[in-house]
Amino acid sequence: MKELIKEVSTKQCFPVRHAVLRKGRPLSSCAFEDDQNEHCFHLGLFRKSEIVAIASFIPRGFPDQKTTKTSFQLRGMAVLDAHQGRGFGGQLLRHGLGLLKERGVHILWMNARIGAVAFYQKLEFSSIGDLFDIPPIGMHQRMYKVIQNE
Ligand SMILES: CC(C)(COP(=O)(O)OP(=O)(O)OC[C@H]1O[C@@H](n2cnc3c(N)ncnc32)[C@H](O)[C@@H]1OP(=O)(O)O)[C@@H](O)C(=O)NCCC(=O)NCCS
Repeated sequence: MKELIKEVSTKQCFPVRHAVLRKGRPLSSCAFEDDQNEHCFHLGLFRKSEIVAIASFIPRGFPDQKTTKTSFQLRGMAVLDAHQGRGFGGQLLRHGLGLLKERGVHILWMNARIGAVAFYQKLEFSSIGDLFDIPPIGMHQRMYKVIQNE
């Protein structure tokens, strides 16, 4: 079966964000302030008509780095539990990296949940800085990937 990846609305992300990233919390917790950023975009991966994986890309400077180059932050990367470990997360993130490259973006970074660090490492993201807590979610590691050099 062929998966389809396309741009989706914030609202289309909510069911997956809720089921994976905000389990047991109110639906309102699925809204990110960044969703209001007009240059933010969201990708969804579909199996048949079901959206099973999502990722949001927000234009934002790479913290603590003195660079004027364009960078984006990845947020809300999630694959429905039943579909994890089947390559969909990697497929979606690679697609997003391709789009960012076309747009001339230099760096994609994220605050990775500890449980996802190995996933990002597989996609050749590097860690920077110490672990830090984002309550109530838990410990995170900042990671980044240089998409293209000058
Ligand atoms: C993390 C997540 C997005 C990965 O998506 P996925 O579809 O499950 O991952 P994939 O199947 O595409 O995996 C790609 C590679 O990463 C590896 N990988 C994925 N998750 C991993 C994990 N938690 N630990 C170690 N390796 C992992 C896979 O083994 C695979 O390696 P391979 O290419 O050698 O086979 C998904 O599991 C998820 O939604 N997890 C819960 C929410 C979460 O933590 N989101 C990230 C917030 S920062």
